[in-house]
Amino acid sequence: MLQGKSILLGVSGGIAVYKAAELVRLFVKAGASVHVVMTANAQQFVTPLTFQALSNNPVGCDLFRMESESQISHIQKARLADLVVLAPTTANLMAKMAAGIADDYLTTILLATTAPVLVCPAMNVKMWEHPATQKNLRTLSELGYNIQPPASGFLACQEEGAGRLADLGDILESALRLLTPPTLAGRSVLVSAGPTREHFDPVRFLSNPSSGKMGYALARIAARRSAKVVLVSGPCSLEPPAQVERICVTSALEMREAIFEISAHQDAIIMTAAVSDYRPAQRSEHKVKKSGKEESLLLEPNPDILASLGERKPSGQVLVGFAAETENIVENAAEKLDRKNLDLIVANDVTRQGAGFGAETNAVKIIGRNAETSDLPLMTKDEVASQIWDRVEKLLWSRTQ
Ligand code: PMT
Repeated sequence: MLQGKSILLGVSGGIAVYKAAELVRLFVKAGASVHVVMTANAQQFVTPLTFQALSNNPVGCDLFRMESESQISHIQKARLADLVVLAPTTANLMAKMAAGIADDYLTTILLATTAPVLVCPAMNVKMWEHPATQKNLRTLSELGYNIQPPASGFLACQEEGAGRLADLGDILESALRLLTPPTLAGRSVLVSAGPTREHFDPVRFLSNPSSGKMGYALARIAARRSAKVVLVSGPCSLEPPAQVERICVTSALEMREAIFEISAHQDAIIMTAAVSDYRPAQRSEHKVKKSGKEESLLLEPNPDILASLGERKPSGQVLVGFAAETENIVENAAEKLDRKNLDLIVANDVTRQGAGFGAETNAVKIIGRNAETSDLPLMTKDEVASQIWDRVEKLLWSRTQ
């Protein structure tokens, strides 16, 4: 995800410094080359050796150490970074940045760099709420710094409130977003994900094994590319991706209602959800009692949401369907592409190992209206999502020319 990217991690002195060590590990695991710079106060909490071992790079500590300055100066470090992440950022560092003070290794780099900077504050709740800190925060936003707000909860100082270093996964996601070209900026997109549940009593329902992973990946990648994303999600256990508005639904009828309300305003819609084609004709208000005899369940058809979207598609909108198939994959998918008036269909052989329902990976064929087909090998669902958005972006771009 971060292959070929250079991240400079600036660490200032607060108890959350120990979490910064784990952040280095996350960045390195994602493929980034990480250079750490610590303030003198940060070194009181964790030694530079920890960060050196985790990043596999020398740690910048002292502006006036001749040997490090001759090899790689603070100016070079500032130039090398694709992104600067400040985690944790103390109230003191925020104040210095707001005033443009450059009196140590880290603050000098911050004035010298032209890379985007992600500020991740962590401090006591009263310090965070202090008018001076809030004023500095506004100044930092005006100066173009990106802010990752602190999380709320129980703090090291035994108080409750805002001031915890943001979740490391959220910091990683923000870093990815800042390093991804904003190719969907100004676009509104809607993604549906997960299964629907069709209840016949309060505790029993018809459904399917969709985990939501494919749809959530599409929402996540669109948000990274700076789209305004709405995710209409059936029941699943996934957390909503950062910067995505999630609308939770249960049944196909609820999903249709949520989608129809906003579909006309979308530049692109991708229907990844595994919508149940049928629902029980009747729903009992109470749990159906066991009779001990054979029972039958009468089903009635659900509306085809995607086909209706195809009928009412506004000009310029890109409409994408998925096709979960077990045989004649391409023929069946191409038939759905035509019948539902789609621009693209993603054919998913759900019998293939490592693909389809519940898997972390997927292998799909993306088919266009001119039958142009991209046959993608097995890859992560994030990678599949990137390939789909590349195709959608091309269509959006060609329509605005
Ligand atoms: O969620 P995961 O575990 O990651 O699994 C991903 C997936 C296998 C669910 C996904 O990759 C996938 O294939 N989704 C489509 C599932 C499906 O319902 O396929 P279908 O061939 O039955 O439907 C074709 C298209 O019509 C789909 O875009 C579907 O959203 C849509 N549809 C279907 C029925 C219906 N009543 N309304 C619809 O809008």
